[in-house]
Amino acid sequence: MRILFLTHAFNSLTQRLHVELRAQGHEVSVEFDINDAVALEAVDLHRPDLIIAPFLKRAIPESIWSNHVCLIVHPGIRGDRGPSALDWAILKGERRWGVTVLQANGEMDAGDVWASVEFEMRETTKGSLYRNEVTEAAVEAVMLAVARVQNGEYQAQPLKRIDPASLGGWQPLVRQGDRAIDWKRDTSTQILRKIRSADGVPGVLDTLFGRQCYLYDAWPEKVLKGAPGEPIARCGGAICRATTDGGVWIGHLREKGCEHPFKLPATRLLAAEAAALPEIEADEASGYREIWYQEEEGVGLLHFRFYNGAMSTAQCEALLAAFREAKHRDTRVILLLGGGDYWSNGMHLNLIEAASSAADESWRNINAIDDLAREIIETESHLTIAALQGNTGAGGVFLARAADEVWARRGVILNPHYKDMGNLFGSEYWTYLLPRYSGDERAAKIAETRLPMGVDEAVALNLIDRVIDGPVMGFVSDVRQLASSMIRTPAFSKRLHYKNARRQADEALKPLARYREEELEQMKRNFYGFDPSYHVARYNFVYKVPKSRTPLTLANHRWTKPFRRVS
Ligand code: COA
Repeated sequence: MRILFLTHAFNSLTQRLHVELRAQGHEVSVEFDINDAVALEAVDLHRPDLIIAPFLKRAIPESIWSNHVCLIVHPGIRGDRGPSALDWAILKGERRWGVTVLQANGEMDAGDVWASVEFEMRETTKGSLYRNEVTEAAVEAVMLAVARVQNGEYQAQPLKRIDPASLGGWQPLVRQGDRAIDWKRDTSTQILRKIRSADGVPGVLDTLFGRQCYLYDAWPEKVLKGAPGEPIARCGGAICRATTDGGVWIGHLREKGCEHPFKLPATRLLAAEAAALPEIEADEASGYREIWYQEEEGVGLLHFRFYNGAMSTAQCEALLAAFREAKHRDTRVILLLGGGDYWSNGMHLNLIEAASSAADESWRNINAIDDLAREIIETESHLTIAALQGNTGAGGVFLARAADEVWARRGVILNPHYKDMGNLFGSEYWTYLLPRYSGDERAAKIAETRLPMGVDEAVALNLIDRVIDGPVMGFVSDVRQLASSMIRTPAFSKRLHYKNARRQADEALKPLARYREEELEQMKRNFYGFDPSYHVARYNFVYKVPKSRTPLTLANHRWTKPFRRVS
């Protein structure tokens, strides 16, 4: 079918649906919902059989929904209506929630239901639920709805004919007052729920050290105690505030109306105030943990859960140190596990934006990632496996490819390109790694195509080696078991021997240092050259400047002859 996505942004859920529907042979084109005239023009140009709105913030114009079947993806159970579906589900502590695909009509979220899929809720952030459970349910529901539309015989169910007891209902927009924290009364669980219901957007507005900040990235503290509401400790980038029954770590803040009104690590934003707090080391029981290591049956498991997958200079250095330590252990495999939501999204663009010299900080950051990539590539003692629990983008994809093998959970989306960030050339030894694993022709294709990629396509391009089926929750234990069983095979030692011989041969042909030098030469131009595209693109990304038009890489219906997508 010819499908048009009408969407506020090409976010993770939209990317995943784009991948899945294209894989089924549908002709999918995308238009950002900028205004009615642009949307109408896109419909005229694409002449879609079906319009899907995976992520829309305003109503579809009547002139469109009255002439075309328009399916809205609503992150709520059947009959739930309103703009804050998931926020309310978290705030109310719902055990089960769902995604409903309904047909647009004149009333918000009140159209006929084409499909609805439920899931079990998890104690986590709104963003994490959205990128995992909601996305999986949305894929299932949209595929079902598309098949039903295509089949032509299915009658979508009007809401009034569905058992009212099984329905949600209209819920208004969640306002700051609905989730304001009362530090003197609320328990840690209540506070976590409030913050997590607004994480990634808009954050819970609160006052910290007399400054008005939105709170994000909250984790429980069970050991430390103090007067409720008081900041009592710091750990890494996070600040701990005491609650009535323990404490809560706040990893990230966004200050209202300040010089840098975007998310930053709490101790970076409130540097002077945080410096006066006692510093604690994170361990299993206490503190804010970004990097941790476990060991089981000859396998080292290195977790690095960086908020939004952004890796700053300091985080890369800390991870490098942890990786070096892991290499000294008496194990055979190191699993590089990233975090549950993201493996890595490359350099930390927010910290770069907030630095006194963005160019200098970019330079430091890319060198720190490169140091880590080199250490992984040059590992002789262990087989290294990047195990992708969550999505990965830009430099993160190539950092993963630095490992001997890349395994990914089915459903993970890769964005193996840098060019959307102001034509950034990229580093992480990609000019070595891509041809090495994918061959020259496919390497060129990967570097040029600016589209998200699903795991099947990534396997075909040798960007990943193995797909792990099964639920999100079981992923770490599944990959650990697979890695342990690999060690027990007679071929394992030969495998290590072969990879080291191959590396030495590659090094003799062209040293890694030369690849890095050449890549960084280009990056220097991106950071310090006359063309400011990277700095402009980064500013727009960090400040979330709305896109004024849909990129041609997505809007197939707007292709004209001079534009050619490499595919
Ligand atoms: N640095 C800082 N923040 C980052 C980031 C980075 N490298 N990558 C993603 N984020 C943040 C986003 O700002 C967003 O923040 P929010 O919680 O305030 O909304 C959040 O992570 C989720 O990102 P989003 O863009 O909404 O996710 P997506 O799934 O739609 O898209 C990417 C994923 C990777 C395509 C997109 O995030 C991206 O292009 N990131 C930048 C990658 C990059 O160019 N890195 C530098 C070169 S190595």
